Amino acid sequence: MSQQLRARRSNLAVPGSSPKMLEKAKGLPADQVFMDIEDAVAPLAKPDARKNIVAALNEGGYEGKTRVVRVNDWTTQWTYADVIEVVEGAGANLDCIMLPKVQTADQIVALDLLLTQLEKSNGLEVGRIGIEAQIENAKGLINIDAIAQASPRVETLIFGPADFMASINMKSLVVGEQPPGYDVGDAYHYILMRILMAARAYDKQAIDGPYLAIKDLEGYRRVAGRSAALGFDGKWVLHPDQVAAANEVFSPRQDDYDHSEMILDAYDYFTSAAGGAKGAVMLGDEMIDEASRKMALVVSAKGRAAGMTRTTTFTAPEA
Ligand code: GLV
Ligand code: MG
Repeated sequence: MSQQLRARRSNLAVPGSSPKMLEKAKGLPADQVFMDIEDAVAPLAKPDARKNIVAALNEGGYEGKTRVVRVNDWTTQWTYADVIEVVEGAGANLDCIMLPKVQTADQIVALDLLLTQLEKSNGLEVGRIGIEAQIENAKGLINIDAIAQASPRVETLIFGPADFMASINMKSLVVGEQPPGYDVGDAYHYILMRILMAARAYDKQAIDGPYLAIKDLEGYRRVAGRSAALGFDGKWVLHPDQVAAANEVFSPRQDDYDHSEMILDAYDYFTSAAGGAKGAVMLGDEMIDEASRKMALVVSAKGRAAGMTRTTTFTAPEA
């Protein structure tokens, strides 16, 4: 079963070729660490990267973080060996495999089958290791519904803006910004919304990809704010400085979190016999009903997953 409720506000990319960065990631407050054997690692460095990753996972120190390894995509010659070496070497200390450039549901099925065999032959719990699917080209986006449903292991659908822009011939200088000359609406809106619709339809997390201008924190916040506003659950971080920004942007604000918990308590009370079994009531100046409860559930779940504590309590009115 996939773990839908893991917090994934900040997803830290760490090249598997760098033992130093694998070590440093332990001390950073990212919700997820993903250790890369794909595009951040040169072909000649891939065999060592696998070994570094296995050693780092087994050494531990990533408590509280979701531990993910990004393998190479199925069109390369590396995928099977990436998966086998990492899962045989450190399967018990690994939460998910990230599969980049997913184009069809079969590619998820192939990874699922390989993981199942590896779990069986290594005495691991079958089905525990999840899959994170990166959507990075037109074919992947067109097939996203089938990809999302291809295995119960799929936990996230991730936008890969750099590869995606290249794949559709989009002109842009900085990932996440508007392509030059484009000033009508938002060039990424359709792609982000398509990923989000599939994520919500099939109960997956929607994750936004990297912002490459790592010194431009304001730009990071702006781009992260856009996907957070749409409903995305988190975003990649490429640099320690981006971690706090991601955690903040993808957490509810304290007053929104408090308000959501108040709505849940108030609605619970007013719909009960003691509260008059009412379906639509006033909470302060706001009218709340069943739809308000649903919206509050979303904010409350995000706040709880982020470890927030409420600062207000609901008191039932005097009868
Ligand atoms: C991430 O993998 C991207 O291509 O943006
Ligand atoms: Mg990519």
